[in-house]
Amino acid sequence: MVPLAKDTLTKADVQEKLEDIFSHYRGERQELIPILQETQAKFRYLPAAAMREISKFLQIPESSVYGVSTFYAQFKLTPLGRKLIRVCRGTACHVRGSAKVLAEIEKQLGIKAGETTGDMEYTLETVACIGACALAPTMTIDSETYGKMSTKKVAEVLGDRSKAG
Ligand code: FES
Repeated sequence: MVPLAKDTLTKADVQEKLEDIFSHYRGERQELIPILQETQAKFRYLPAAAMREISKFLQIPESSVYGVSTFYAQFKLTPLGRKLIRVCRGTACHVRGSAKVLAEIEKQLGIKAGETTGDMEYTLETVACIGACALAPTMTIDSETYGKMSTKKVAEVLGDRSKAG
């Protein structure tokens, strides 16, 4: 099993990019969300080291920065993989077996939904409905949609993507 991805960035790793972001702001509390959005855009997640610096810059407790970051689903607290897999758990997909498809992907990748493989290749998430219910059960890898999924098709789809790089 591949170990999970870890947040390993240090203060030195994040400092330069954060200084660039902070230069557009005045250091006021209400700037927290746009700063978090810009930080995530730079790092593809919110490193703990960056959250500490943001808390100092805005002079608010670290717990407030974490509180906001964990409240909004758009913010990721662990590094994202190069490929983002989303398995639909909407009603149409659910009744056609999306839970089994998800379980098979989790088994093959050795991670649970919400996690990233230790080699940083895949992040696995679930979504409510991707708007392709006629193809249920569905999943996506980045912008590609895969319909009529089954546990058998999982290896095929994951294999295709790793060859595509
Ligand atoms: S419920 Fe899965 S695509 Fe709509």
